[in-house]
Amino acid sequence: MSLPFLFLLVLVIILSYSTVSSSQSVLTQGSSLFVENKLDQLVSPNRLYTAGFHQTGRNAYFFAIWFTQPMLDGNHTLVWIANRDEPVNGKRSKFSLEKTGNLVLTDASRRIWTSETNSNSRLHLQLLDSGNLVLTSINNKSYIWQSFSFPTDTILPNQPFTKDTTLTSSRSLTNFSSGFYKLYFDNDNVIRLLYNNDEITSVYWPVPWLVASAAGRSTYNNSRSALLDSKGLFVSSDSYTFTTSDYGQNLRRRLTLDVDGNIRVYTLSQRRWIVSWQAITMTCTIHGICGPNSLCTYSAESGRTCSCMHGYKAKNHSDSSLGCVPTFDFTKNGENYDFIRLPFVEFYGFDSNWNPRSTFNECMKACLDDSNCKAFQFNFDQGFGSFVCYYKTLLYNGFYKGTRFNTYLKLPKSDVLSYTDQKVVNKSKLECSTSVIEIKRPYDKKSTNGSLKFMLWFSIILGGIEVLCFLFFYYITKKPSPTTTQTYLAIATGFKRFTYDEIVKASRSFKEEIGRGGGGIVYKGVLPDDRVVAIKRLHDAFQGEAEFLAEMSTIGRINHRNLIETYGYCVEGKHRILVYEYMENGSLAENLLGANQLDWRKRFEIAIGVAKGLAYLHEECLEWVLHCDVKPHNILLDADYNPKVADFGLSKLFHQDSTQDSAFSRIRGTRGYMAPEWVFNLPITSKVDVYSYGMVVLEMITRENRLTRDQATDYSEQKRLVSWIREKVHEASESLKETQIMEVLDPVMEEEFEKIEMKNLLRVALQCVEEDKDARPTMSEVVKMLLDKDC
Ligand SMILES: *[C@@H]1O[C@H](CO)[C@@H](O)[C@H](O)[C@H]1NC(C)=O
Ligand SMILES: *[C@@H]1O[C@H](CO)[C@@H](O)[C@H](O)[C@H]1NC(C)=O
Ligand SMILES: *[C@@H]1O[C@H](CO)[C@@H](O)[C@H](O)[C@H]1NC(C)=O
Ligand SMILES: *[C@@H]1O[C@H](CO)[C@@H](O)[C@H](O)[C@H]1NC(C)=O
Ligand SMILES: *[C@@H]1O[C@H](CO)[C@@H](O)[C@H](O)[C@H]1NC(C)=O
Ligand SMILES: *[C@@H]1O[C@H](CO)[C@@H](O)[C@H](O)[C@H]1NC(C)=O
Repeated sequence: MSLPFLFLLVLVIILSYSTVSSSQSVLTQGSSLFVENKLDQLVSPNRLYTAGFHQTGRNAYFFAIWFTQPMLDGNHTLVWIANRDEPVNGKRSKFSLEKTGNLVLTDASRRIWTSETNSNSRLHLQLLDSGNLVLTSINNKSYIWQSFSFPTDTILPNQPFTKDTTLTSSRSLTNFSSGFYKLYFDNDNVIRLLYNNDEITSVYWPVPWLVASAAGRSTYNNSRSALLDSKGLFVSSDSYTFTTSDYGQNLRRRLTLDVDGNIRVYTLSQRRWIVSWQAITMTCTIHGICGPNSLCTYSAESGRTCSCMHGYKAKNHSDSSLGCVPTFDFTKNGENYDFIRLPFVEFYGFDSNWNPRSTFNECMKACLDDSNCKAFQFNFDQGFGSFVCYYKTLLYNGFYKGTRFNTYLKLPKSDVLSYTDQKVVNKSKLECSTSVIEIKRPYDKKSTNGSLKFMLWFSIILGGIEVLCFLFFYYITKKPSPTTTQTYLAIATGFKRFTYDEIVKASRSFKEEIGRGGGGIVYKGVLPDDRVVAIKRLHDAFQGEAEFLAEMSTIGRINHRNLIETYGYCVEGKHRILVYEYMENGSLAENLLGANQLDWRKRFEIAIGVAKGLAYLHEECLEWVLHCDVKPHNILLDADYNPKVADFGLSKLFHQDSTQDSAFSRIRGTRGYMAPEWVFNLPITSKVDVYSYGMVVLEMITRENRLTRDQATDYSEQKRLVSWIREKVHEASESLKETQIMEVLDPVMEEEFEKIEMKNLLRVALQCVEEDKDARPTMSEVVKMLLDKDC
């Protein structure tokens, strides 16, 4: 054997040895993981988690922990990052456990991150089955350092969230550096969400206009800790708890503060993350979501959009979270200003002043005279019984809130004149902040020491400013007394808390009953301001004032033309009462039975309206507000026969006591409209509402409708009906004979319907009542299919 060959053999052995040794489970003192070696990773004994270098951009790497198994799209889900704000180079970077017991991440010779630990005893680093990366003392097994104490934007099941930890969202879906949102335990022991950019800080969860106790939080337990377990139960020491929608099984989960400022719990299912809980149902109410001077809109079709108001333009078209800037110069003196009205729009917060008894002209004059006033709001407030004027110095958190809100935007006269087309916003639309920002980080050169120093000072100063802002903010939020926050609830939401006496008076001691069901009896009433209302008295079974209030804060913010508007509620002693708008034409059920038959056009419009309402609940709320009891009795018709869905948001209140008696009360919904999931004990998703919707539409247009209503149909009967219709429709399309379709249709509408629309509606309804929930469309797909004239 020649010498070179021997040399080569030794080299091969050394190389292969080093790769074998690198897929290790512990890192010992004095050794390192190298970025160049793809196999330099620590893997947890159950192989669920991996720690190592993860590529984030061209030549840019994180030291991170991720789920070993990639998702369906091939990407890994990161759960922890050491150096999120400063990725390292793809060459000569390493992660070392030094002899002194310090963990250090270096880029060439520059220290990017350290754990700042030291110890005389023998240590090693290992990744546990829980996803915790721990530096352990070998003698006594205690942890010197652990990644669980320094979360990034995610906590894993059984990872304690404490007063010393915060979650900070990522900047965007592809840029993992620290973003604008923080989850933390506040000084008053309440767990909160905060929006924080260079200009403002603003708490938005729990809702800022409620005192902590009204939001169901307790300020008394100062242990300040929270935990999500692997079954899906979250318990926090401020008495905030929730269970995920799939609570009960030990599943792979994570709780993440997402890019959009919402906290969500995700469950891993077939290599995809499914949202099983989220904190905020209406994402336009998250503060700062569109940046300054921008308006957030939500539609089932296009999701959330940020747009600039007339007179403003996008700061950066590729990043809507930066908001908009004026196209004119606000500081210029002598400029002539005027106002345009933005109907239904509110900008939350940043009122320099407010005035409960001023006229519109006084309000406008005061804003004109104040050079810091960018807009004013002039809304009727029931609490004061008069209009209230608010002067806005900053325009943040703008969204369409409801009919009682009006914002008047201050603009130069020339811009007001050019505002002709009644469009609120400048046509230039922005992408949502979830739009993907590409990472290109040329990182080949070491930065010089001078700029490093500058960066260091810069971040220290920035940190100082942040602390000051925070203290300032804390000082102002502490000040308002409970009474002012209560009135602000009314002002901000137009949603009122009634006393029981007021309710008794309005309903004339519950004299006129107009309906039953959905957990209570409904009475007609008249409010002191002459509004006619429906008053629903819930049965005594619902309880828990905190849960009720939490649910009310959700319901109170839901606003859509096809959902019934809730004016307020009453919670006093054992009374739980809801006050809704009154609907002149009663329920769809009554109208289908009544002599005054609905014509085809009305039925078609009702089908579309109901679909839009449900789509809004499902999509905006990401499956969280499930209706669970869609039926003709819950679809109400106003004077113009516009449908509005009622009784949404109550299913969760039922759910509270269903934990005690799950076999009995698990079945919600109503016979005749009930999805097979209820019957076969399968997971409940938004598709149960899709199913019920399909049944309602079939009932509306087919001649079999009497069957579902007159007999107490059980599930097999319901199935028989569906397959009969399906057969007829199939036969008709096979034989191309229209007459066979006529056989299934309600004779009342004969001859007057439009064939194409009718066939489309029938087809969509049949798709909605598929046995397999995955074969059913989502509600927003239903809306699209119904509006699409071509099919
Ligand atoms: C997955 O990674 C690819 C690039 O590797 C990227 O283009 C894509 O956007 C990622 N998908 C998600 C959902 O982040
Ligand atoms: C374990 O050993 C380390 C290092 O010697 C020491 O700092 C720590 O206090 C010990 N912990 C316990 C529980 O004895
Ligand atoms: C405070 O909260 C913790 C964690 O939820 C709980 O274990 C503890 O019992 C609470 N203490 C009091 C006094 O309620
Ligand atoms: C609307 O935005 C565009 C571009 O962003 C800008 O050029 C235009 O001046 C804006 N319109 C008004 C009326 O401000
Ligand atoms: C907008 O943001 C992107 C990404 O952050 C940046 O590359 C671009 O230069 C910005 N554009 C402007 C006009 O500031
Ligand atoms: C990621 O976001 C940070 C913070 O806003 C920004 O400084 C950085 O330039 C962004 N990186 C890229 C590649 O856009």
